[in-house]
This record gives sequence, C-alpha cells and structure tokens, in this order.
Amino acid sequence: MNTVALIVAAGKGERAGGTLPKQFALIAGRPMLAWSYAAFAKNPRIERVIVAIAEDQQRLTAEHMPGVATITGGTTRRASVASGLAAMGDAERVLIHDAARPFITDAVIDRLIDALDNADGAVPVLPIVDTLVSTDGTSVSREGLHRVQTPQAFRVDSIRRAHAEWRGAEPTDDAQMVRALGGSVALVQGDPMLEKVTLPGDFAAAEARIGWETR
Ligand code: C5P
Repeated sequence: MNTVALIVAAGKGERAGGTLPKQFALIAGRPMLAWSYAAFAKNPRIERVIVAIAEDQQRLTAEHMPGVATITGGTTRRASVASGLAAMGDAERVLIHDAARPFITDAVIDRLIDALDNADGAVPVLPIVDTLVSTDGTSVSREGLHRVQTPQAFRVDSIRRAHAEWRGAEPTDDAQMVRALGGSVALVQGDPMLEKVTLPGDFAAAEARIGWETR
C-alpha cells in the first residue's frame, strides 16, 4: 500500500526568535526541517515525502535544503495540509507531520502505519505527568488524558473527506476532523524525542535530546 509523508512547514515560525524562520534554524548543524525530512526519506515504508512551504520561503528552502521538492502551503495549517492532500495523487496512506517536531523514529512510524490496518487514523500520544488545573482554580483529573504529537497517520480517503467537510474553527490537529465525521482514530505510544520546538529555549533542549540519542 502506497504511503506518503507530508511535512507542513509553511508557518512563519517567528515565536522561536532568531534571524531565520524556525523551520530553517539549525539544530546540531542541520536545518530543523531537514531532520524530519531525512527520517521520512530513509524509512523503507514511506514512498514519497511532500514538503509544504510558504510562497515567500521557497528561495530559503532551495538554499538550505537543496534538491528537496516543495509545494506551496496556505495561510493556515489546515490550508497547508489541504495543499499537500491535493498533491499526493492516489496515495492510500499519509503521515502528516509538523516540521516543528524534528526527531522522528522508525518505531513511531511503524506503530502508526500498523494501526491503520484497523482505523481511519492513528496519532502518537504521551501520558500527562503534571497536575492539571483550570483557570478558575478547579482541579482537573489527568486520568484518561494524553498529549498528542505528530506525525498523525490517516487513510487518505478519510482525511480528504474530513478536510472537505470540516466547518468548525481552525483545528489544532487533523485527527479531530476525522473524529468529527465519526472516523476512528487509534492512539499509539508517542516518543519524548518528538517534543515540539516552539520557543527560543526549545532549541537547546532539542540539541540535548539529539546528543543524548546519538551518544
Ligand atoms: O505554529 P505551529 O508551531 O503550531 O505550527 C505547526 C506546524 O504547522 C508548523 O510546522 C508550521 O510550519 C505549520 N504551518 C503551516 N502553514 C501555516 C501555519 C503553520 O504549514 N499557514
């Protein structure tokens, strides 16, 4: 079955500070986007990697990631994903991934793809270890709650339908659109290596993680 990876990297990436948009900022000497691109490109179960980039960042991409073909993303994350879904032809499965999570392991990719045998979608999750409280001071039980990461895997027909029929506000991930149509989304074990890089301090943490992984 034909599986593609779609990396969305068309955000402005400004919250991370620095002179370059965060998808091009270096982590251990390599642009952040290049880490997840390389992980997908070398995985034997992924046939093709599609990268969505903002129109005004195409030149930066050619400069920092020579030889990588890109498509133009949209003004929202959902629009960038939709551009990718339109560009993947008759692919049957897709792993949709945020460039802001540089370190993907083959084990997570395996768990996600395997879960699609019995579900429309699959997302990697981690347990919540902190105590939770709402702004009005009410304690919230963390029982049964998870932190959701990317990549998120889908059967292409399910995620295309979910995008076409979504009428809600901008979603924070793709799985909620599939669930809204009654689709099944499996939860698989995520990985601390997949933590998101958002703020300036997150780069040092990411470099520490990769150093720890490769020591
Ligand atoms: O801003 P945030 O980190 O939540 O964005 C998540 C991912 O969505 C990032 O990889 C970002 O580049 C991508 N994105 C996109 N197109 C947009 C906005 C965000 O591809 N218009």
